[in-house]
Amino acid sequence: MRRTAIALLAVTAAAPAFGQAYPTKPISLIVPFAAGGPTDLLARILGERMGRELGQQIIIENVTGAAGTIAMTKLARATPDGYTIGIGHLGTNVVNGVIYTKLGFDLIGDLEPIARLPANPMLIVSSNQVPAKTLKELVEYLKANQVSGGTAGMGSGSHIGSLAFNAATGATYQLVPYRGTGPAMQDLIANQIQVMVDQSSNSLPQAQGGKIRAYAVTSAKRSSAMPDIPTAAEAGYPIEVSIWNGLWAPKGTPKAIVDKLNAAASAAMQDPAIRKRMEELGQDLPTVEEMKPAAFAAFQKAEFAKWKPIIEKAGVKIE
Ligand code: MLT
Repeated sequence: MRRTAIALLAVTAAAPAFGQAYPTKPISLIVPFAAGGPTDLLARILGERMGRELGQQIIIENVTGAAGTIAMTKLARATPDGYTIGIGHLGTNVVNGVIYTKLGFDLIGDLEPIARLPANPMLIVSSNQVPAKTLKELVEYLKANQVSGGTAGMGSGSHIGSLAFNAATGATYQLVPYRGTGPAMQDLIANQIQVMVDQSSNSLPQAQGGKIRAYAVTSAKRSSAMPDIPTAAEAGYPIEVSIWNGLWAPKGTPKAIVDKLNAAASAAMQDPAIRKRMEELGQDLPTVEEMKPAAFAAFQKAEFAKWKPIIEKAGVKIE
C-alpha cells in the first residue's frame, strides 16, 4: 500500500497541472495592421511587458490586409495551445463581423477573449497644408474641395471614424486604404492625403510635434494628454467614437492558459510606466475587472449589438 501511495505522489508531483508549465516557448502575437500604427504600438508595449511576466518572449507578427480580417482568420485557425494569440479592436473584432458577409468564421464564436485593453479616442487631423484652423473651417473646406483621407481599410478604426465624421458633419473625403495608419500618417505628413480620423496614440505625437494639425478629439470630455484640443462637440459637431482594443486566442484554448495570459496582461496594465505612457498617448485604461475574460466577452457582445444597426444603416457591406 505504502509503495503505491509513494509512486502515486511521485507521478502527481512530476506532472504539472495542465497549463502550469505554460509557456515553455515564445508566443506569437498576431497584429492585424502594419508596423508603426496604433495597434502595432499597443502590441509592442504590452507584448514586451507580458513576455517578462510570462518568462517567454512574445513575438509580434504583423498580418495585414482587409482591415484585419486576414489576421483574425489566421488566429481563428491557429492551434488553440496558447502559443498564438492576437490583438484586435472594435473594427477587427466587431464591425468586420457586420461588414464582411463572407468572413468564413464567426468573430464571436471562433475566438476566445483573453483581456480587454486600452481604448483610443480619435483625433480629427489634417496635413499642415490644409487651410483650416478650426473644425468648422475644415468641414467647409472638405465640402468645397475633393480631398483624400487615410484609413486602414473598410472596417478599420479609421474607417469607422470617417463614417462617424461624415454622419455628424455631412462632409466626405475620398477614402484611401493603407495597411495601417502608421503608413497613412507618413502620407498625411507629406500631404499625399489631407485628412484622417485616427486613433489618438498615432496622431497625438505628430500633432504635438507640429507635423500635422489636430482639430478635435472624439471623446465626451477633453483628454488630460491633450487639454488644448477641444472635443468635437465643443467644436460644433457631436462626434463620439473610441476604438477599444483587446486580446483574443483561438476557440478551445484551455481556460488555465487564457487565465494565465489574462493575468500577464493585467500585470502589464498595472505597471506604472506603462500606464503613464498610455495616458500620455491619450488612451483610456480598463480596470482589472473590465479586463477579465468573461467581462470582456460580455462587453464585446454588447458592442456587437450596438454597432450592427449603425453599420447596416451606413450601408457598408463587403460581399
Ligand atoms: C485602424 O483601425 O485604423 C488601425 O487600428 C490602424 C492601425 O492600427 O494601423
